[in-house]
Amino acid sequence: MKYIFFLMTPLLLVAASTFITPMEYASQLYKNPRGIGCQSCHGDNGEGKIIANYVHKDKKKSFIGPQINNIAFSEFYRVLNKRKRGMPRYFLTTQEIKALYFYLHKNDKKKKKHVKKN
Ligand code: HEC
Repeated sequence: MKYIFFLMTPLLLVAASTFITPMEYASQLYKNPRGIGCQSCHGDNGEGKIIANYVHKDKKKSFIGPQINNIAFSEFYRVLNKRKRGMPRYFLTTQEIKALYFYLHKNDKKKKKHVKKN
């Protein structure tokens, strides 16, 4: 994953000026952005979760925050810059979006070890 370096560079700069690590910064942003924390609807690690169950026309339904740790950065960026059904609008900067993406992909390297090499 070559682009992880491109994602990390601005984070290292932020960390250098605030004395927190890039991961601490990214983790705080994920849990406490300007608005309700992402984990309330997408789970602690972006794995997705059921926000609420309800009944509509006698059918059981669920309002779901989809999994978001498995999508490409371009898609992640696009979604956070437009209105989505059920998804609050945050007005995040590009750097913040990169930090969130970085946070959600923190375990990718570990996961890769179990995947076959190509
Ligand atoms: C109030 C609940 C809620 C919160 C809080 C929330 N989301 Fe969402 N999010 C949703 C829902 C619901 C969808 C699905 C919208 C749809 O299907 O159109 C969604 C969709 C997304 C998607 C697109 C997923 C896809 O596969 O298309 C991304 C990316 C995303 N959210 C990221 C975030 C991030 C990052 C945060 C925190 C800054 C956040 N969300 C906070 C409810 C939420």
